[in-house]
Amino acid sequence: MGALLWLLLLLRLQAAEGYSGDDVDTEEVVAVLQESISLRLEIPADEEVENIIWFSYVRLATVVPGKETQPATVMVTNPRYEGRVSFLDPSYSLHINNLSWEDSGLYQAQVNLRTSQISTMQRYNLRVYRRLSEPRVTVNFEIAQEDGCNISLTCSVEKAGLDVTYSWISWEDGMDTVHESSALSTSWRPGDDALSYTCRASNPVSSIASRLIPAGPFCADPGFPSEKATYFCLLAKGLLLLLLVVILAAGLWLIRAQKQCQTPRMRKLKRNRLRLKKKEKPRPSLA
Ligand SMILES: *[C@@H]1O[C@H](CO)[C@@H](O)[C@H](O)[C@H]1NC(C)=O
Ligand SMILES: *[C@@H]1O[C@H](CO)[C@@H](O)[C@H](O)[C@H]1NC(C)=O
Repeated sequence: MGALLWLLLLLRLQAAEGYSGDDVDTEEVVAVLQESISLRLEIPADEEVENIIWFSYVRLATVVPGKETQPATVMVTNPRYEGRVSFLDPSYSLHINNLSWEDSGLYQAQVNLRTSQISTMQRYNLRVYRRLSEPRVTVNFEIAQEDGCNISLTCSVEKAGLDVTYSWISWEDGMDTVHESSALSTSWRPGDDALSYTCRASNPVSSIASRLIPAGPFCADPGFPSEKATYFCLLAKGLLLLLLVVILAAGLWLIRAQKQCQTPRMRKLKRNRLRLKKKEKPRPSLA
């Protein structure tokens, strides 16, 4: 698929005007998504430049250097690059801002020289990558009763994209061992030193490590997790029972207390109501 796309791009580039079939070296350029990049152009110092034509797969822009102190004339012919490109003096290198995935691909600069009446070509292959986020580690461990445990660690990065490599680094006695893979299987036996692991994910524009994963807590006491869980379960059940008893006792006490106060409180209420009625009567009418 990738090869086919490449071939198509190459064919389109050949079809585009200004392409010459000579074997010009292609400069590999990597850039970060939404950041910027310069495609550096080299112009012979003693030559006067007629114009420079930049191509992506179609003509991108034409730059005509100004006479003496005059600024250069720039015509951006591909609307996708409008407002995002500039041509840096003195060599008119192409500077692209806010890169998108679609900006990946082949670029070419055709420099037409006035004095020698020849054209030179410079070609670039731009690849755009996202900066990687911190790798996520999943730990699967199988517990064997006497033999310690076998651990498998898996490393992944969200929206990783292309050309990502993973490596696991383990530390033991100040020595580090690198294992080039996203998955790592290891084992731990009682009496072994405590091991720590970290995963590093890299792509051409970034490299980022995960937090340190200590293997010890997973394996130190094979019976520990289940025993602990049972203990907590019992404790929770006991506490719940205690809480129920307390609620029941409080409820009973409340009912009893309510019965005792009911009679005097009712009398008081009736008295209050009478007093209110008396107060309302002498109020003069507003009408
Ligand atoms: C960069 O381009 C994206 C679309 O590709 C756009 O949504 C965003 O607003 C642009 N950012 C700037 C700072 O121009
Ligand atoms: C751990 O791995 C070893 C081989 O490396 C295997 O013989 C053993 O059975 C494994 N133990 C468990 C509990 O999976």
